[in-house]
Amino acid sequence: MYLRHLLPLGLVAYGSAQSLTAILTQNNATLSTLTSLLQLVPDLVQTLSTAQNITILAPSNTAFSDLLSRNPRSAELMTNPRALSGVLQFHVLSGQFPSTDFTTTPIFPSTLLSTPFANVTGGQKVQFTLLNETATILSGYKQPASVITPDLTFDGNNTLHIISTVLTVPAPLSQTLLNTNLTSLSGALATARLTDGVNSLSDLTLFAPSNDAFRAIGSAVGTLSNNDLANILGYHLIPSRVLFSPELLSQDQMVLMTLQGGNLTIRRDGSQLFVNSARVVLGDVLVGNGVVHVLDNVLNPSNTAATPDPAAPTQAPAFSGVSPVADAPFTSGIIPTATFVPVTVPLNGAGKGAFAALPTGVMLAAGAAVLAAGM
Ligand SMILES: *[C@@H]1O[C@H](CO)[C@@H](O)[C@H](O)[C@H]1NC(C)=O
Ligand SMILES: *[C@@H]1O[C@H](CO)[C@@H](O)[C@H](O)[C@H]1NC(C)=O
Ligand SMILES: *[C@@H]1O[C@H](CO)[C@@H](O)[C@H](O)[C@H]1NC(C)=O
Ligand SMILES: *[C@@H]1O[C@H](CO)[C@@H](O)[C@H](O)[C@H]1NC(C)=O
Ligand SMILES: *[C@@H]1O[C@H](CO)[C@@H](O)[C@H](O)[C@H]1NC(C)=O
Ligand SMILES: *[C@@H]1O[C@H](CO)[C@@H](O)[C@H](O)[C@H]1NC(C)=O
Ligand SMILES: *[C@@H]1O[C@H](CO)[C@@H](O)[C@H](O)[C@H]1NC(C)=O
Repeated sequence: MYLRHLLPLGLVAYGSAQSLTAILTQNNATLSTLTSLLQLVPDLVQTLSTAQNITILAPSNTAFSDLLSRNPRSAELMTNPRALSGVLQFHVLSGQFPSTDFTTTPIFPSTLLSTPFANVTGGQKVQFTLLNETATILSGYKQPASVITPDLTFDGNNTLHIISTVLTVPAPLSQTLLNTNLTSLSGALATARLTDGVNSLSDLTLFAPSNDAFRAIGSAVGTLSNNDLANILGYHLIPSRVLFSPELLSQDQMVLMTLQGGNLTIRRDGSQLFVNSARVVLGDVLVGNGVVHVLDNVLNPSNTAATPDPAAPTQAPAFSGVSPVADAPFTSGIIPTATFVPVTVPLNGAGKGAFAALPTGVMLAAGAAVLAAGM
């Protein structure tokens, strides 16, 4: 207080007490679209102006114009206050997350987006990670956004990062499976009449076998009753816990109880993660009600003792006497509504820039999920 009087006036005004409005005005050349969108959601602005310890991920003007040109339907989003509010809530984090929090070990801050747009306790999450030495935020479908201007601070303990891309609100589980090439699992859930039930859960962790994993046990698929299938699928699901890769990698071995009742053994081998004998080939895909990790093998509740061979490029099936088939099982009539190629990042930062694919997928409206939920 006393010191304030000694400081030149300009310094005080530029110090820690500057308001969100001041940041938006100073960065008007980059943030004018966001500023005008905020005017459509006064309740959210009220929340932001009085909040403490928040971090705003502020999409640039180019981020919004890219979204509009990629998907004209997103214009609908921008004029629908309820949907817009949902999308913007997904861009506000509870807590202070400065740019030093982006490291090769990902973290998963909570956003203000909650039910019905996200059924994740404490708010839907985003992934912060350092990707190719760039501070990167991964959102729904593992679509990336980069931090362009980090660490603008306002009202004391609040942070704002300007980002390159509008974040994608994580879609409902069934929609995410459909659009990330997990069509066998999608079809298997539909066959077992579990799609709606699984979508309606909150806070889940799903281990999702890839289509290749289902193909590898293809000869057995025809002999499974719907009850067998439901048992197998339930053995892939951890209820009431959203477990991201850093937690799964935090111990050499851990046991998790599944919805089906049987236990899974999670094993760490260096930076690799195994579930029973299956390898996690893509981790941390955010969905509306939790997280999905993609596996290279279908888990077998009657073979809980299956162990991996970490040196092998692919794991032997956990079902005995099976042989592979050419066509992905359960995919008849299962048609994706979009194609997303997720960014793959090493699970725990096994070296900078070591990722296999860049996003080439068509990005739908960032808020398609929000528009779909409860409009
Ligand atoms: C901010 O930028 C927009 C768009 O370029 C412009 O219309 C508006 O007048 C600017 N506002 C301020 C306060 O400079
Ligand atoms: C803000 O965060 C700091 C440190 O992260 C914490 O000590 C403080 O209690 C928080 N304040 C509020 C109002 O949440
Ligand atoms: C990684 O960053 C470097 C330097 O910025 C760039 O030249 C390279 O193309 C990037 N690689 C990928 C895969 O984006
Ligand atoms: C900021 O956080 C510190 C502790 O981390 C706390 O002492 C201080 O009161 C906070 N200031 C505001 C304006 O919230
Ligand atoms: C998706 O699956 C199909 C058939 O299973 C396969 O041919 C295609 O390469 C896969 N695409 C991606 C991006 O993995
Ligand atoms: C699962 O593991 C828990 C804790 O390790 C144990 O208490 C329980 O009996 C196990 N359940 C089965 C079906 O093996
Ligand atoms: C959240 O749960 C509600 C009630 O079951 C459901 O209507 C809504 O679609 C769910 N939202 C998401 C994103 O999964």
